[in-house]
Amino acid sequence: MTAYGIALGSNLGDRLSHLHAALGGLAQLGTVTAVSPVYQTAPVDCAEDAPLFLNAVLELSSPLPPEAVMEKLRELERGLGRPERRPWNSPRPIDLDILYAGDTVLETGGLTLPHPRLHQRRFVLQPLADIRPRLVLPGFTVPVRRLLDDLDSNEPPLTRFAKLEPTAGLVGRDDRLATFAAMKSAGRPIVCLTAGDYPTARLLDENGVDLILVGDSLGMVVLGYPDTVEVTLAEMAHHTRAVRRGVSRALMVADLPFETYLTPAQALSSAQILMQAGADAVKLEGGVNKVPQVRALREAGIPVVGHIGMLPQQVRDEGGYKKKGKTPDAAAALIADAAALDDAGAIAIVLEGMVAQVAAEVTKAVKCPTIGIGAGPDCDGQILVTADLVGAFPWFRPPFAQARGDVAGQIRQAVHAFSEEVKGFRVQGSGNG
Ligand code: KIV
Repeated sequence: MTAYGIALGSNLGDRLSHLHAALGGLAQLGTVTAVSPVYQTAPVDCAEDAPLFLNAVLELSSPLPPEAVMEKLRELERGLGRPERRPWNSPRPIDLDILYAGDTVLETGGLTLPHPRLHQRRFVLQPLADIRPRLVLPGFTVPVRRLLDDLDSNEPPLTRFAKLEPTAGLVGRDDRLATFAAMKSAGRPIVCLTAGDYPTARLLDENGVDLILVGDSLGMVVLGYPDTVEVTLAEMAHHTRAVRRGVSRALMVADLPFETYLTPAQALSSAQILMQAGADAVKLEGGVNKVPQVRALREAGIPVVGHIGMLPQQVRDEGGYKKKGKTPDAAAALIADAAALDDAGAIAIVLEGMVAQVAAEVTKAVKCPTIGIGAGPDCDGQILVTADLVGAFPWFRPPFAQARGDVAGQIRQAVHAFSEEVKGFRVQGSGNG
């Protein structure tokens, strides 16, 4: 095993998600033994208007030789959208460098170890000193912390920006998938709800919900957008991380948002970001037309949930939320969609806004479980947006969603009670004064 110091940087797109995705990829090469905080840093040797970087350093224990690790880093960079050819030091979604590989000293065409400039860069030395302050690198006589203290550089101070969280979701993922997979054949109805935050997720998990979906409906019920179309991958990753902290038992699925899975390659890089954020599986909307995406994800070991019928991400094109499967042709197309997703390896299919009889037929036709929403009772499971179930979003609720609570009413009551109390203090205060 060799201890590799790896520097991570990003100054293009959703920088933090890129670092998280890279962390997930690096974890496949061995064991990640230490991860520094993420710093926001000024670009060095870049154009004057170059965007700020996020930088971090991690240590990886791997059986692979340096050349193989280097090759994997280039693969990861390509997977995260870094073109092979680009102008020197132009903004990039991800930059991965080997800083050191144990005691190895190496100088080949493409790889010099230790990295020849690491001791001149605050954006490398600071995070490295956070995780390995006493490390003396081959060819140096003083430890990393001293290199940092003695550094004479005009880089501005680094700002601590975030933490890179190793994927807690990996632990127990196989068990959660196996428990879920056994439910349909055991005839156990599958209870599913959505969550976008830690307390909701934890309450659902503690109360026996089988599948928790970080649905892009959070765009409306958490973020206040008019529909799901505006939700970004970064927002989904952020909420997926929050939900992950509250879920240990249920299967946790995260939605791939609008236009993040137009091609199989794009679906893969988007899904990797959600998986790294802690999802057990991802969900995408579409049937036969999304089979290449589903296959690409399955080949990469990413479990996929399909979603057919009324597709919320198409609401603008369709001019509203319309029930599906009303004609024999439409019903046959839905059954064909479901069969194609099932054959491609989907672990479940959401049937939304669909004639109940068609949903029942789909459920009989496929091996994987169906999860209905506004699709009648004859599905293997049912899902609701939790805000609709508990009455937390009083401005809109779909007709099929029965509210079983009045969270909005209770908030209003509590606010009035508190408000009256505060005003009462003030009146009392001025009276006594
Ligand atoms: O985003 C969501 O909440 C969903 C459910 C309605 C299935 O996709």
